[in-house]
Amino acid sequence: MNINSTVISGYQALNDMRYLLNGISTALVVTDKNIEAIPAVQALIKQLHTLIPQLSVVNSVPPEPRQHDVAAIVTALPQRQVDMVIGIGGGSVLDVAKLLSVLCADTAPSLEALLAGEKPRHRTRSILIPTTAGTGSEATPNAILAIPEKETKVGIISPVMLPDVVALVPELTTSMPAHIASSTGIDALCHLIECFTASVANPVSDNYALTGMKKLFAHLETTLREPDNLLARLEMLWASYYGGASIAHAGTHLVHAMSYPLGGRYHLPHGVANAILLAPCMRFVRPAAVSKFAQAYDLLPKADARLSDEQKSHALVDYFTALVARLQLPASLEALGISPDHLPWLVEAALDVQRLMKNVPMAVTADDVRAIYLTLFPSCQAEKSYA
Ligand SMILES: [Fe+2]
Repeated sequence: MNINSTVISGYQALNDMRYLLNGISTALVVTDKNIEAIPAVQALIKQLHTLIPQLSVVNSVPPEPRQHDVAAIVTALPQRQVDMVIGIGGGSVLDVAKLLSVLCADTAPSLEALLAGEKPRHRTRSILIPTTAGTGSEATPNAILAIPEKETKVGIISPVMLPDVVALVPELTTSMPAHIASSTGIDALCHLIECFTASVANPVSDNYALTGMKKLFAHLETTLREPDNLLARLEMLWASYYGGASIAHAGTHLVHAMSYPLGGRYHLPHGVANAILLAPCMRFVRPAAVSKFAQAYDLLPKADARLSDEQKSHALVDYFTALVARLQLPASLEALGISPDHLPWLVEAALDVQRLMKNVPMAVTADDVRAIYLTLFPSCQAEKSYA
């Protein structure tokens, strides 16, 4: 995988976009209404209006978009042929912007054809500007869509969707509510630790994952304590970008495979579903990745160098559990009102995500997946211990 995007980053990095827009006379901004209302985003769009003669703004991307949401956006486009697509938003917005960059290109396949596996060959020029620090969508070849009929999500994957330019601009993320910063930050952590421990991990993805984890461990909680700390915000944008770059070169595995059915059926936000699964899945994977877990543990600001690798690997799982609690993210499905009666369906749906399950660094059976989900229903655990 070759990530050819140019990355520009830093405070006020987009204050003068003229050099990015040479030859652009028609463009499409893809965003959502909440993001569009952020003053820094309003200023950005205002600048684009002055620089691009024909600029359309699509602000109707919903959270966790479905196939028919994207189809409706395409149908409603004021014009299909544009010189550039500019995505400004979180993962859902950037995924849709990536799809539109393909669907707006000459000889584009239909969305149905993309979902059926046809590979796009062209896209229109594109810039992706994340306003959350978590999905890393700007660095991945993936666009994730919910498929309501199957109550799960699928990925359309093609390196063609990687943008020309990525802009990491910290002032665009300071309006992010704390609960979004927490859950998207955990999503980035899942990308990094899953890719680092995946069966398909390699020296390139390992480098991205280690760099990203070091930044995330040092700065995630700082951004929550000090929302206006632009340095910490920028470091988290880079952590998220490195998570995306890790995905581009390796792939996530158990957390994401087990999380997709939770998003698809119960509409849990992606980062929240991942937060619930992070520690239980990593506890399961740990024996197959002791050395990798120890390397990740060593990146923690308060790592104890005297521990053995085995001890470090356990300590990392404990850190994940404590981090999710400190961020006040849910740790069980029961607390969210989800019934354990759905366990058989959940197990089958998770195993169905073969694209990711094949990356788990050990064999995983249906019983294993069921046992992990079961830990998310504490009362069932209690009943079991009485049995
Ligand atoms: Fe994710």
